[in-house]
Amino acid sequence: MLVILSAAAMMTGCARNDGDDRIRLGFSQIGAESEWRTANSESIKSAAATMNIDLRFADAQQKQENQIKALRTFIAQKVDVIAFSPVVETGWDTVLQEAKAAKIPVILTDRSVTADPSLYVGFIGSDFVEEGRKAGRWALDHFKDGTGDVNIVELQGTVGAGPAIDRKKGFEEIISTNPRFKIIRSQSGDFTRAKGKEVMEAFLKAETRKIDLLFAHNDDMAIGAIQAIEEAGIKPGRELAIVSIDAVKGAFEAMIAGKLNATIECNPLLGPQLMTSVVEVVAGREIPKRIVVDEQVFTMETAKQHIQSRKY
Ligand code: AHR
Repeated sequence: MLVILSAAAMMTGCARNDGDDRIRLGFSQIGAESEWRTANSESIKSAAATMNIDLRFADAQQKQENQIKALRTFIAQKVDVIAFSPVVETGWDTVLQEAKAAKIPVILTDRSVTADPSLYVGFIGSDFVEEGRKAGRWALDHFKDGTGDVNIVELQGTVGAGPAIDRKKGFEEIISTNPRFKIIRSQSGDFTRAKGKEVMEAFLKAETRKIDLLFAHNDDMAIGAIQAIEEAGIKPGRELAIVSIDAVKGAFEAMIAGKLNATIECNPLLGPQLMTSVVEVVAGREIPKRIVVDEQVFTMETAKQHIQSRKY
């Protein structure tokens, strides 16, 4: 497999004058804000190495302006393909048009953009609305035997990011089918542990009503919030239920400790699929416009039996 792909890379890449015939891929990563992101970056780097692709990897530190700069650098370097995970959905049209004018195909991974779809050749990633729905369904089921209101606080991801917008939408779509479920506070924790803790502390301080459920848009914010909940003298996972998204190792540890009730999987291991798509694109073949990754739901009750087989 490796030999075939390396050969494909050498045959199809644009001619280079530095004696290196590998495919050149410019990849702009969002940052290192979460355990998920670290696993995603590792997956991309190791898949590029396995498939002998010359990867130029740029970390944008959660800033769109840094991503735009990186994309322009890749255009100037005349890479064969550009791939990136856009930190937010909007504001990409100009730079994507520049890539198109330079005839460099663009592949989106993890998150998408709201731009003319002809500006990119494909998007590989999760269905974030469905992840929000799964969290909502878990919540309805968890509280199905009660009769009173279910007061929910929500830790949203980065403002304007696809997963924050879509997970909120999917979750609200499901809980709106039962009037007992009410989101009483909702704020961004920027997908990080530190912010998750800080915002949860503020929720607990300001809220006089009993909080029944925390919906965190990722595990890192849930893990940060768990600290804040414990420091407030409340038992997370028992007195205050928590559902989050990603299914990283830290979430399994929290579930086994009885502090997190459920996590919805968001698969970060996109590297092999991305590299295969890059080879296809350079060879002049079409790739599917949308490649959706398969994902599961894990709960406190089943966490122990899954933790050993988790890859991230
Ligand atoms: O875009 C995927 C999201 O970004 C993950 O859920 C989160 O952990 C990450 O930072």
